[in-house]
Amino acid sequence: MIRSIIRGSGSALPKRVVTNADLAAKVDTSDEWIVERTGIRQRYIAGEGETTGTLAIEAGRKALEAAGMDPKSIDLIVLATATPDQTFPSTATKVQDALGCNGGTAFDLAAVCSGFLYALGVADSMLRSGMAKRALVIGAETFSRILDWEDRTTCVLFGDGAGAMVLEAADVPEDGPGVLSTKLHSDGEHNQLLYVDGGPSTTQTVGKVRMKGREVFRHAVVNLAEVLTEVLDEVGLTAADVDWVVPHQANARILDATAKKLGLPPEKVIKTVELHANTSAASVPLAFDVAVRDGRIKPGDLVMLEAMGGGFTWGASLLRY
Ligand code: UT7
Repeated sequence: MIRSIIRGSGSALPKRVVTNADLAAKVDTSDEWIVERTGIRQRYIAGEGETTGTLAIEAGRKALEAAGMDPKSIDLIVLATATPDQTFPSTATKVQDALGCNGGTAFDLAAVCSGFLYALGVADSMLRSGMAKRALVIGAETFSRILDWEDRTTCVLFGDGAGAMVLEAADVPEDGPGVLSTKLHSDGEHNQLLYVDGGPSTTQTVGKVRMKGREVFRHAVVNLAEVLTEVLDEVGLTAADVDWVVPHQANARILDATAKKLGLPPEKVIKTVELHANTSAASVPLAFDVAVRDGRIKPGDLVMLEAMGGGFTWGASLLRY
């Protein structure tokens, strides 16, 4: 059967680290509150010359190196972001040009924090249908550029970064590697719980992030547990079969609550929220790459990716590495 195999991954972070103490010097918050409520201790914030595009290019280059692939052989780039360098052209086309993958298909996709899951789902469908052979799938964000740095309920939660995977369509046996199942959902009824208060066609500004955190939290735990079960049911596996869960890194408490709901031991959950905070579409591929490079995720492992974000959007994907 034709499946999308993960051939390599890469990630990138800005140079500057901002600690909770740094933020406490600017807004009415504390290291204790942030750690207790979110698990976050620091985040990376883009400086001059660092953009969603530059981070995506670095992550993409590292993923291509890890895959040992000639950039020219990449015929699809899907870049998930809510913070593109420009409204258009797509940041994906900038990545395409910088990496030398010109000529294939390249586009941005917007599903905020679930963006990477959506990008993976779209790329996987295009690879399995024969529309493309080799894909670079990227999640990249500079949320620091759309934060209200005076709003303590949001500015302490996010960071910048990028993560990427190279996927290739290949004929594999039933028990072979590749993406096994992806489920994606949206519910626009909840637009107003997590949004940006601006945009090109409304205010002609980029706007700032606004969130009703407690309500997002409540929906996240329920929606994520449901979609994980949906994916497992489709492939006839249970949570006990999963070697690693790579969740969207929004809040350590959401990660713990979701794992508990599914009966997953916490040591199977990859957590980078402490160091990276919430990097929106970048968080899943960034955490995946960290765990591949430190040797936790190994070839043959069954890995569940999951995310939930503005829209609401949410999704999960099960793959054998
Ligand atoms: O990536 C997309 C998905 N996003 C998420 O999944 C985020 C989901 N939500 C969350 O992670 C949590 O709801 C938050 C971390 C955002 C907030 O945690 P919480 O336990 O839900 O706190 P809360 O919003 O109920 O606020 C509790 C108190 C409030 O004070 P009062 O009203 O009880 O006096 C807030 O004003 O904490 C206060 N507060 C803060 N205090 C110090 C809110 N932000 C801060 C802060 N520092 N940064």
